[in-house]
Amino acid sequence: MMRRREFLEQGMFGTAGLCFAPKAGWNIFSNSRTADSRIDVLFDEPLGTISPNIYGHFAENLGAVLYDGIWVGEKSKVPNTNGLRTELIEHMRKIKAPVIRYPGGCFADSYDWRDGIGASEKRPRRTNFWANVESDKSPASHRYDPNAVGTNEFVHFCKLIGAEPYLAANVRSLPASAFQQWVEYCNSPTGSTTLADTRAAAGYSEPFHVKYWGVGNESWGCGGDFTPQEYAVEFRRYSTWLPSYGDELKLIASGPNTDDWNWTREFLAEIVRKGPGQLRHIYGMALHHYAWNLSRGKTQDWDAGKGDALKFEPVDWFELLREGERMEGLVTGHWQVLSEMDHDHHVKLIVDEWGPWYRPGSEATSGDALEQMPTLRDALFSGMTLDIFNRHPEKVAMANCAQLVNCLNSLYLAHEDKFVITPVGRVFELYASHQGGNSLRTVFSAPNLHYDRDGKVASYWGLKGSASVRGKELTITAVNPSPTDSRFAEIALRGAMAKNASMTFVTHADIHAHNTFDQPDAVVPQTKSQSVSGGNLLVEIPPASVTALKIQLNS
Ligand code: AHR
Repeated sequence: MMRRREFLEQGMFGTAGLCFAPKAGWNIFSNSRTADSRIDVLFDEPLGTISPNIYGHFAENLGAVLYDGIWVGEKSKVPNTNGLRTELIEHMRKIKAPVIRYPGGCFADSYDWRDGIGASEKRPRRTNFWANVESDKSPASHRYDPNAVGTNEFVHFCKLIGAEPYLAANVRSLPASAFQQWVEYCNSPTGSTTLADTRAAAGYSEPFHVKYWGVGNESWGCGGDFTPQEYAVEFRRYSTWLPSYGDELKLIASGPNTDDWNWTREFLAEIVRKGPGQLRHIYGMALHHYAWNLSRGKTQDWDAGKGDALKFEPVDWFELLREGERMEGLVTGHWQVLSEMDHDHHVKLIVDEWGPWYRPGSEATSGDALEQMPTLRDALFSGMTLDIFNRHPEKVAMANCAQLVNCLNSLYLAHEDKFVITPVGRVFELYASHQGGNSLRTVFSAPNLHYDRDGKVASYWGLKGSASVRGKELTITAVNPSPTDSRFAEIALRGAMAKNASMTFVTHADIHAHNTFDQPDAVVPQTKSQSVSGGNLLVEIPPASVTALKIQLNS
């Protein structure tokens, strides 16, 4: 494995100099070195409330996400709550997981929710959408869905965590009436309908009050291969006169893949052909962006373009972050396209799949389809992505990291009685206090980094992040992508005074560091208190780190 020193020798050209002169009277820092960066938090420039749902999750019936990751069964020796993995529930409570999307993904458009209700032993076994990508090593439940988990179990999982369920309906292979009846099964009042009785017979007499509903998934691809116009017609059909049972249903349209501006534009154009009032039926448009192409422009081939989760060079470290950085332009770009027809910005962006996607080979459990091993690189990617969402609170109403456990950018890995929190899971711990906070415009100034990208000098920013305030607590999160250098940042609170502060960060001497079942604590958060003077702070932000500063403000 390449260590930081080797990285310096082989990959880095060093950092450009940008120095801030020490201020007169800055005596508390007399033993510190000069700041090379600044973070200016502008209290009089609030950007809006950060929707807690930006910190949402995605759990598809794919590989070992559901069976083994979430569901172990009531008779399992693995500690469980009604068959659901207890350790997972406990950690998701800790990070205040706000919303979980299920059952897909591509799986959603092959799923009949009616297979997953009623007595467990009577539920049918069905071929899973992902059966073709499963290997001989994977258990039968990954190929042939036993339907042990259905709507009841999933909603129960959400309730145990305190999260909202977000259900994705099947538009490709079920009629609109099946969607309507799924809503009826979940939300119709006790005793009101036959489906409410069926729900009650399973032990759930109270309605589930499911608010978030996806109308299909990736309808431009696995969800039906529609054109945007065709899908808009389907969306109107599936969303017209849905019974609400007193719940405000928030319908989410299948949105663009990465920078497919045409999908966003043409979908909305067709929707409003029946009048602008149609926009009221759409709560959000789902954007998907996976950072998969690490080929540095050499190919667009889905397989050939992918990098390795564990074996990577310095240039790949930066390449992944560059691919992740695209998210900001996608959010502002699609927002701009939406505003061409949705002048009041009724339709929000829902980034309901995001994360890095590597080639197979780093699975924690052999045979788990699409499982990859998150490293420190993915922790930085995740912190950076969450900061982007925090900086656009008026645009992004929900985001769902793909996927929760045993999959792509997972917060957790689990197999039988083994469970580990990945560096990505650690980042969600650090960022939880942003949920519901008021995002503040914050200016990060730091020297650019330079590195060798195929014989040419490439640049990357030296420090970025976000800030939010809730009552008297300010949270600043920041990503330092330099694998070698700390950033010494002067933090200036413009319009508030700091009383005391603490800093928690995730880093490691090895940029490839990751947590395994055998070494679960290789990458863990470290906390230290931070001195404050005159309302300002000087902080050392370690190399290759994600940092959260919690600052108590004077009243
Ligand atoms: O997250 C894995 C898959 O990626 C999802 O099923 C699909 O929506 C996307 O293409």
